[in-house]
Amino acid sequence: AKKAVLGPLVGAVDQGTSSTRFLVFNSKTAELLSHHQVEIKQEFPREGWVEQDPKEILQSVYECIEKTCEKLGQLNIDISNIKAIGVSNQRETTVVWDKLTGEPLYNAVVWLDLRTQSTVENLSKRIRGNNNFVKSKTGLPLSTYFSAVKLRWLLDNVTRVQKAVEENRALFGTIDSWLIWSLTGGINGGVHCTDVTNASRTMLFNIHSLEWDKELCEFFGIPMEILPNVRSSSEIYGLMKAGALEGVPISGCLGDQSAALVGQMCFQDGQAKNTYGTGCFLLCNTGHKCVFSEHGLLTTVAYKLGRDKPVYYALEGSVAIAGAVIRWLRDNLGIIKSSEEIEKLAKEVGTSYGCYFVPAFSGLYAPYWEPSARGIICGLTQFTNKCHIAFAALEAVCFQTREILDAMNRDCGIPLSHLQVDGGMTSNKILMQLQADILYIPVVKPSMPETTALGAAMAAGAAEGVGVWSLEPEDLSAVTMERFEPQINAEESEIRYSTWKKAVMKSIGWVT
Ligand code: G3P
Repeated sequence: AKKAVLGPLVGAVDQGTSSTRFLVFNSKTAELLSHHQVEIKQEFPREGWVEQDPKEILQSVYECIEKTCEKLGQLNIDISNIKAIGVSNQRETTVVWDKLTGEPLYNAVVWLDLRTQSTVENLSKRIRGNNNFVKSKTGLPLSTYFSAVKLRWLLDNVTRVQKAVEENRALFGTIDSWLIWSLTGGINGGVHCTDVTNASRTMLFNIHSLEWDKELCEFFGIPMEILPNVRSSSEIYGLMKAGALEGVPISGCLGDQSAALVGQMCFQDGQAKNTYGTGCFLLCNTGHKCVFSEHGLLTTVAYKLGRDKPVYYALEGSVAIAGAVIRWLRDNLGIIKSSEEIEKLAKEVGTSYGCYFVPAFSGLYAPYWEPSARGIICGLTQFTNKCHIAFAALEAVCFQTREILDAMNRDCGIPLSHLQVDGGMTSNKILMQLQADILYIPVVKPSMPETTALGAAMAAGAAEGVGVWSLEPEDLSAVTMERFEPQINAEESEIRYSTWKKAVMKSIGWVT
């Protein structure tokens, strides 16, 4: 049968902490045509350590591409209509590999990993606690979260990495770099690059000059020759060298939170989105200005959609554990068999019955930046059962969002009138209603929740030399939204929130 021609299509890799996806969109309507998803293993070799296998990640990308193409074939859609591919990725996660063999020299050290706590403390002593040294250039606090200290750890502790650096064989990258290098040919001419959004999460990148910063590299002891070239988020980096989409240009690259900001069309100053993935990340576009937070938020590069296009910045509230708490209930406690089951349990009781769950598994990120915090479940009685704990886990995601939204409102001066949301967890209706109740503002969710992938596809399709996607669509009427209005009264919402804060205080200082 003759395959239907739909006009130019664009694919997007969405490589998150928990899973990898490949999705294909129609560039004219932004309609999602087909996708495939594969869960990614996480290893916890020691308390506080989180690792992933870079080769498993790469393999999952190929698998998702192949499966999606097969599904398109079944839909009678010709894959030769795919004109470009965008990449969006979990940020900060650090990989070092050998450019001659293509082999990773250690597992990927994941953003959530805490092994660098003592490195951070020692560096902080060296600058006598003057956090501003790093913050003024990078927009980031000195923390285990960002790549520079993970890379420092690899250079200090892994002989293979040390040797490869000495022999000029080592390349460093966040997941975007590892994927783009591998997909564009690896040892046979792979392109070693990253984009400004991913670079801005390393603590090595100057967000004003948009270059790697020599002084920061010296401070962290990082050899600059192993760093990738920094490019804009929308330009042709190279061509796919293998698989069903061989020859298709990779022309979009954004850290996943930036990609979601683009996918939610938050192009104006003051527009914000909150994505519920493994963690939870609220980003507010601040236009061409770098706004520095007084309330524990990060300043980060939002996007730069083309070599000659201006850079946009964002304020970001980062929460380490959101969807990850559900995975923990599934994998570590076994009280649910699949992530979707959480909604059923929570619905059975409709309340946590005074139980509060602070999932500070990796310390607390924004607005506290407290590495000494650890997870606690409190307020238990003999009446408490697994349904209450499930409910408390969902509430925790909402309370953490409330904390970063409050910080955002204080920094921006103008409170957000509603919250635009996306990400896997937003299909959970109880969570969405709870979120509206706890924020006491409406929560608005697009009917197509894959906005991260959409943002990467938009960047790829709009790139110079591709030009199949307009970033100023005239007609957005196809984008339908679902709205959740607050249903409890403000007083009740405040009482719950203040009890949550009491619980947070108990989680802090758990480890010294
Ligand atoms: O900064 C980490 C973030 O990019 C991870 O995103 O989607 O895996 O929660 P996600």
